[in-house]
Amino acid sequence: MAKLWQKTTNVDKLVENFTVGRDRELDRQMAAFDVLGSLAHTRMLESIGLMDAADLMLVQQELKALYLEIEHDNFEIEPDVEDVHSQVEMLLTRRIGEAGKKIHSGRSRNDQVLVDLKLFFRHQLQQVVTETDTLFRQLIQLSEEHKEVLLPGYTHLQVAMPSSFGLWFGAYAEGLADDLEMVLAAWKITNKNPLGSAAGYGSSFPLNRTMTTELLGFESLNHNVVYAQMGRGKTERIIAQALSSIAATLAKMAMDQCLYLSQNFAFVSYPENLTTGSSIMPHKKNPDVWEIMRGKCNRLQALPNDVALMTTNLPSGYHRELQLLKELLFPAFTDLIDCLQMATFMLQNISVNKNILDDPKYTYLFSVEEVNKAVLNGTPFRDAYKQIGLDIEAGNFNPEKTVSHTHEGSIGNLQNEQITNAMDKIIQSFDFKKVEDAISWLVK
Ligand code: ARG
Repeated sequence: MAKLWQKTTNVDKLVENFTVGRDRELDRQMAAFDVLGSLAHTRMLESIGLMDAADLMLVQQELKALYLEIEHDNFEIEPDVEDVHSQVEMLLTRRIGEAGKKIHSGRSRNDQVLVDLKLFFRHQLQQVVTETDTLFRQLIQLSEEHKEVLLPGYTHLQVAMPSSFGLWFGAYAEGLADDLEMVLAAWKITNKNPLGSAAGYGSSFPLNRTMTTELLGFESLNHNVVYAQMGRGKTERIIAQALSSIAATLAKMAMDQCLYLSQNFAFVSYPENLTTGSSIMPHKKNPDVWEIMRGKCNRLQALPNDVALMTTNLPSGYHRELQLLKELLFPAFTDLIDCLQMATFMLQNISVNKNILDDPKYTYLFSVEEVNKAVLNGTPFRDAYKQIGLDIEAGNFNPEKTVSHTHEGSIGNLQNEQITNAMDKIIQSFDFKKVEDAISWLVK
């Protein structure tokens, strides 16, 4: 068994399998980032005299070749290799000999996996932001397109006051903008360099951590080496909060969709090929997409709790179960990104019912509108309220079914422009360009 740390004893096979767990499969997703970390680390080693120029050239060349192999899916963690860190170092040594054995000076797998995860999370967060932004634009577009179409608003699931498709779509757009504030916080905390903290206590080599911070396009570094190691778990916790925020917005929207698609509401519809059938009931067109989304997004809201339970009361320093955090976070990103994409796709195909309020059961939506008209004509609110109440009881309530709401954020003044400006501002706060430039320089 090829282990970086193997001296004489062979570890029991059961222990090996139990401790390696799902690393070979999950680490594959971090492989490109592991190589990036080594590209930066070895440049730094050369700059402080721990690697000569010739070795650096060999190492850089081979790491870049490996980066491309990973990009083209020509990379695997061999069955008897522990993890991606071991695989990369072994491949290098196999291909270029002695120089490969020098790359691990001043580094431990503890800070190596830390930096891999930060780079991986940064990449995933960027995708989350991009997909959230796309869904946001789709919602704003629908809100504008259907701003004249009224919809019953509910409280207690009882018919309450007039709402509109403009409000409904726009509400979820604004919700996503707020969710991205959480993602921005997660991004900022993720975007700090832990490399150089080694096993968690630094190194006697004069490492230049500022240099690797710049090379990897990080905003700053986790200064204190003990804190850098504590970032494992903490970063995941904060990311989990951010993902869970978006998930909560999506889950609520998915629930609305299921409800509004029900025949008892029939507010929206989808082309038949976006719904699913039943094996027994020939008439069925089920909203399975939204149901799966609701389930996945509800499950994602357990993520902060899962991370907290796994890490609560762990003392400072590295502990092996930190490895299990990958099992929580990696599929969470995949699920959320899938859900964001599916939500956009479904909304590109939604139809809205333009005549919902023709149904007499929605007549009482207009009770407050009528009270307010009387108030505007000089009747005190409580008297007007009572009069309309009595009319309703006597069956004499025949409102005009129009609304004129003008204040900020209401049916007639959606403020989609302000919401969009707020979203644009958040998106601009993510320094994706700096990250992309740093990475392309490292691999070129
Ligand atoms: N697979 C390990 C993890 O994810 C890599 C770090 C191993 N470090 C160690 N001290 N055993 O945590």
